[in-house]
Amino acid sequence: MVQLINAMTPIEEARAILADGFDLKFSKSVQKATSTVFEKVKDKIPEIEWPFFAPLIFQINRLKKEKDAVILAHNYQTPQIYHGVADIVGDSLQLAQEAAKVRQSVIVQCGVHFMAETSKLLNPEKTVLIPDSRAGCSLAASITAEDVVAMRAQYPGVPVVTYVNTSAAVKAVTDVCCTSSNALDIVNAVEGDTVIMIPDQFLAQNTAKKTHKKIITWAGACEVHETFTAQDIAELRHAYPTAKIIAHPECPPEVIAAVDYAGSTAGMIDWVKTQRPARVVMVTECSMSDNVASETTGVDFLRGCNICPHMKRINLENILWSLHTGTEEVTVDPAIIEPARAAVRRMIDFSKKGD
Ligand code: 13P
Ligand code: SF4
Repeated sequence: MVQLINAMTPIEEARAILADGFDLKFSKSVQKATSTVFEKVKDKIPEIEWPFFAPLIFQINRLKKEKDAVILAHNYQTPQIYHGVADIVGDSLQLAQEAAKVRQSVIVQCGVHFMAETSKLLNPEKTVLIPDSRAGCSLAASITAEDVVAMRAQYPGVPVVTYVNTSAAVKAVTDVCCTSSNALDIVNAVEGDTVIMIPDQFLAQNTAKKTHKKIITWAGACEVHETFTAQDIAELRHAYPTAKIIAHPECPPEVIAAVDYAGSTAGMIDWVKTQRPARVVMVTECSMSDNVASETTGVDFLRGCNICPHMKRINLENILWSLHTGTEEVTVDPAIIEPARAAVRRMIDFSKKGD
C-alpha cells in the first residue's frame, strides 16, 4: 500500500495558513528589524533557523501596535517569545501586578490559562487573548470550587490561601491568593494559627517548614517539578561539583533541602544575576536558563530541567494568529468575577505593602 509521507506538521500547517495573509519572507528589512533580538537568542537558536522565526517576530511586533495590544509572557516561554515579542516578562506575581497596570486595550497572554484568567479578572473591560486555550496546568486541574467549599466546611473559620495556579472559580471561594514568591508572607499575614493552603502540596510543605502556623493542604502537584528527586540533585552535584543548584518551591521538600537556593522563577533569575555563580543548574522548566543566559554573561548554565508541555503550547505562529483573529478570547463567568478578583487584588495589595 502506498503511504503519503509528505503530511505537514501542525507548525508547517499554521505557517502555510499564515503565509496567505502575511509576508513571511526573511527580507533584508526583516533581518535588520530583528537583529537585536537575534543577538540575544543566537546561542539558543541556530542561525540557519532564524529566517523562520524572524518574519513571525517582525509581523507580531507590527500587528501588536496596530491592534493596541500588549504581550505578557511568563519566564517559561521560549527565548523567541521572551526576547522577541514580549513587552512584559516575569513570574506569576509580576505578571499579575503588571496586568493590573496595562493601558492597551488588548492583552495577549503568553503563558498558561490561569495566568490569562488572572489578567482578565484584573481587566474585565479589556480583551484578553490566549494563543492556545489548551495551555493548562496540572495544579489548576487538581482542584475545583466544590473541593474548596468542602474543605471550608471541614475546617470552619480557617482562612484559605490559594495559589494563583488555579481556576477563577477556585479563586472565587478563596480568601487570598498567593504565588511562590509571596506564599510565606501571605500565610504569616492571614489571621489565626492554622491556614488552608491549596492546591500545591509541595509549596505548602515547603512553606510549612518556614512558619510556625499549621498548614492544611491538598494533594495537587506540578507535573514538571514533582518528578525531581533528592537523587537527581545528588547526581547533579556529582556531575558538576562546582555548580550551584537552585530550584522552584513546587519541587518536593527533599529536593528543596538539597539545593543552594529555592525561589519563584523571578527569584531564581534575581539570584543568578546577583550571586553570579560560575556554573549553575536551574532545577525547573528548561526555558528559564535559556532566557536568563543571554542576559547574564560569565555564568555557565548546565542542564537539569523538565519541559512544561502546557507552556510550550504557545508559539510564534499561534501568537500571530491570535492577534490577527482576536482569538482565543478569555472570559470569566460574571457571577464569580468579583470574588475571584478580590482574592487576587488582596494578594497584589499585600505585596505592595511589602515593597
Ligand atoms: P512562578 O510564579 O514562580 O513564575 O511560577 C509559576 C509556575 O507555573 C511555576 O511552575
Ligand atoms: Fe503548571 Fe507546572 Fe506547568 Fe507551572 S510548570 S504551568 S505549575 S504544570
